Amino acid sequence: MKDYQKRAPLPEAMKAYAGSGALAFHTPGHKQGLGAHPLLKERITPEGLREEVSLMTELDDLGHPSMCIKEAQDLAADLYGADAAYFMINGTTGAIHTMLLSVLQPGDTVLVPRNAHRSIMGGLVLCGARPVYIQPEIDVRLGIAMGLTTDAVQAAIAAHPEAKALVAVYPTYYGVASDLKALAALVHAHNMLLLVDEAHGPHLPFSSALPAEAIACGADMAALSTHKLLGSLTQTSMLLVQSLRVDQERVRQTAALLASTSPNYLLLASLDIARLQMAESGSRLMTRAVRLAEGIRQAVNAMDGLWCFGSEYMGRPGAAALDVTKLTVQVSALGLTGAEAEHILRWQYRLQCELADAYNVLFIISMADTMREASILEGALRCFARNYRRPVPLALPTVSLPAAPEVRMTPREAFFAPAETVSFTAGIGRIAAEEITFYPPGIPVLCPGEEITADTVQHIRSMAAVGLKVTGPQDTSLGTIRVVRKGQICTRAN
Ligand SMILES: Cc1ncc(COP(=O)(O)O)c(C=O)c1O
Repeated sequence: MKDYQKRAPLPEAMKAYAGSGALAFHTPGHKQGLGAHPLLKERITPEGLREEVSLMTELDDLGHPSMCIKEAQDLAADLYGADAAYFMINGTTGAIHTMLLSVLQPGDTVLVPRNAHRSIMGGLVLCGARPVYIQPEIDVRLGIAMGLTTDAVQAAIAAHPEAKALVAVYPTYYGVASDLKALAALVHAHNMLLLVDEAHGPHLPFSSALPAEAIACGADMAALSTHKLLGSLTQTSMLLVQSLRVDQERVRQTAALLASTSPNYLLLASLDIARLQMAESGSRLMTRAVRLAEGIRQAVNAMDGLWCFGSEYMGRPGAAALDVTKLTVQVSALGLTGAEAEHILRWQYRLQCELADAYNVLFIISMADTMREASILEGALRCFARNYRRPVPLALPTVSLPAAPEVRMTPREAFFAPAETVSFTAGIGRIAAEEITFYPPGIPVLCPGEEITADTVQHIRSMAAVGLKVTGPQDTSLGTIRVVRKGQICTRAN
């Protein structure tokens, strides 16, 4: 570790103020714990409350950092090989909103994978850009979406040479990584930016067994969920930025626009500490996580009725490499759905997975896990596979996707347009004011601003009929749908 990485400027500054002996006649109202309720004291240590301050000269301004926040952000940028890092206290959602709003303007075209997280839809509402959706590859055996292929991106660029940027989700929730280096070369050759939702990749730089991190692949910006896979507190993320094609001052201004003027220093400090922890021992911790995960994977694949794909399954369209610390365990051969398996594992074996879909349960092995957790998980899965096999297997739905409907309004126009609720079939020919997504594969069938067609309605009805979980609409029973009121001005979005 480089010597200068051994520091933690934010906790140092907070400790310096708390230890200065100044009597608090300032915010926050609990006054460094003096007036804190016992329930709050129980949850946050006395030292934590003493340091829960924000506007003192020892500290800094998140909107225009020049002291401890700047130092901490610079250390993070250095560790991740980026020109700049911005600390975020509104999760990766905040990082993604900042990313899109700082480089896109109303009316700009942006290429977006159809399986993008809803924070990207929120960013499009904020910046007013026109999305051109690209369908990612669907792996029918796994029932999940993979990444984007260079062919699909090439075709989108040919149809929309005016696009300003490509948004990529890298890796996916399930750890699947597309060929990001090739995508970077492709979009840069067309003068576009590569903006990466790397929510599931803050740990990638710390093991060579993992896919290369987005910045190393050539991304211009990458939004990292430090809280999801490393040791910072929930709600904290980082936005990494390269200067070659992005105006850092614009990013700073946008980050300041979207963040609170009273950021919580415990949250900020947790980002600094997570960076310190990775600088100190990231490579040892991630090497262990990879080893544990690969051991569990091997054991699971020897269990009758379970399957956990690994690196050998990569090399398919949209799937160049795998974050092996994600264990997607397919349970359908037991005749169970992922949701049923999740319930059994939670209540019979006291294990909580990260998520379940129709076919799979996903387990995350992180830098926190040891042999103990690995062997408990392995043992529980072994018992589960032995004891829970349905004699007559369920007929599981086949995952399919209709073509993306025509975009009649940008997400921003649809967001601000007056809307009304109509019966589901009366929605045909109208413009959707809400999103409809089925799990699996978690790709919106309909997005705000798109024309509802008879085909889309038919597809939605058949997905609902086979029992897939619907998310997004106000009425999840799909009796009604929110549409844009008639008479609104539509500008063709693509
Ligand atoms: C791919 C992806 N992007 C962005 C986000 C948003 O992250 P956060 O919850 O930190 O706002 C998530 C959250 O699950 C995600 O899975």
